[in-house]
Amino acid sequence: MSTFFTLLLLKWNKDSNHRPMPWKGELDPYKIWLSEIILQQTRVEQGWDYYEKFVKKYPTIFKLANAKDEQVFKLWEGLGYYNRCRNLLHTARYIVDKLDGIFPNTFEALLALKGIGPYTASAIASFAFNLPYAVVDGNVFRVFSRFYGIATAIDTKEGVQLFNKIAFENLDKKKAGRYNQALMDFGATICKPMAPLCNGCVMQKKCVAFNSNQINVLPIKLKQIQKRKRYFDFFIFNYKNNWLLQKRGNEDIWAGLYQFYLVENDRIPQEDKAYFKQVFQNQLALSGSDIISSNISAPVYQLLTHQQLTIRFVEVVLKTKPAVFSNAIWVPKTKLRNYPFPKVIVDFLKNR
Ligand code: ADE
Repeated sequence: MSTFFTLLLLKWNKDSNHRPMPWKGELDPYKIWLSEIILQQTRVEQGWDYYEKFVKKYPTIFKLANAKDEQVFKLWEGLGYYNRCRNLLHTARYIVDKLDGIFPNTFEALLALKGIGPYTASAIASFAFNLPYAVVDGNVFRVFSRFYGIATAIDTKEGVQLFNKIAFENLDKKKAGRYNQALMDFGATICKPMAPLCNGCVMQKKCVAFNSNQINVLPIKLKQIQKRKRYFDFFIFNYKNNWLLQKRGNEDIWAGLYQFYLVENDRIPQEDKAYFKQVFQNQLALSGSDIISSNISAPVYQLLTHQQLTIRFVEVVLKTKPAVFSNAIWVPKTKLRNYPFPKVIVDFLKNR
């Protein structure tokens, strides 16, 4: 027996949901998986292009598993959260090496794969194999919290349990794939976090939040994530049009990507001149006569899940090549695009 919610959702999907997306209706679990990994923490508009590029370059899991790490990272560039890309490669190779390239077809086996959590396992299980698993994420919490008028905080154990239960009760067990895609689309295009389109919404009459003026109050979240503030200055050393790059280690954000020489501070340094001198002399044994010019950019800001970054770029034209860099390479400006960078550096390079 379907709930009212489910009937309304499927009616809306049939009559009014014309949201085209390249992965919609896809049945190949490999491609579904690719789309879901790309869409984790990525907007659909941004993910679309990446999905098409990946499917074109790696049309099968064998092609992806056999690709070189750096090529895949290069294609991923700009999407951020590089662990997703690392896990993607790891899992592709695992499926090819250990499972003869055959994608698992049960929820449990999907969940056991690296980089696949309950949401992605439910999406693949329902889209590819029509298995009765409900997707549950922030969008789904919001839709149910509003429709049923539930004020239990979504970031508590109790809330997570409750919303999982409601999600399963509403799932159309026979058409799980269609239902899940409809729910995702409804949350993204109608029951949006800000300024939802209640006017004309098929749910309106039954929606508790709408009928009790709680649309902007629900869902309730207890804690706001405290973001760690970090201050990065990238020093771009330019010696005869060769730029200095370093590969990042594995312990921090942007693991394994390339960057310019990084100085991290606990705040924006007060006085540029003294600060530069300290970096040049004390860290790199460069004196004033080794430097032709140095210029600092305005700060740019980037929000990650748990961090708030303030980033500046300092362009330094050198007369002398410094000797003290470890783990560094000098790359001609024209070859810079061959290296995978964090998005903020890609954006910076676009204007060069
Ligand atoms: N976000 C995650 N998966 C999605 C999908 N299949 N369609 C739209 N948005 C999504």
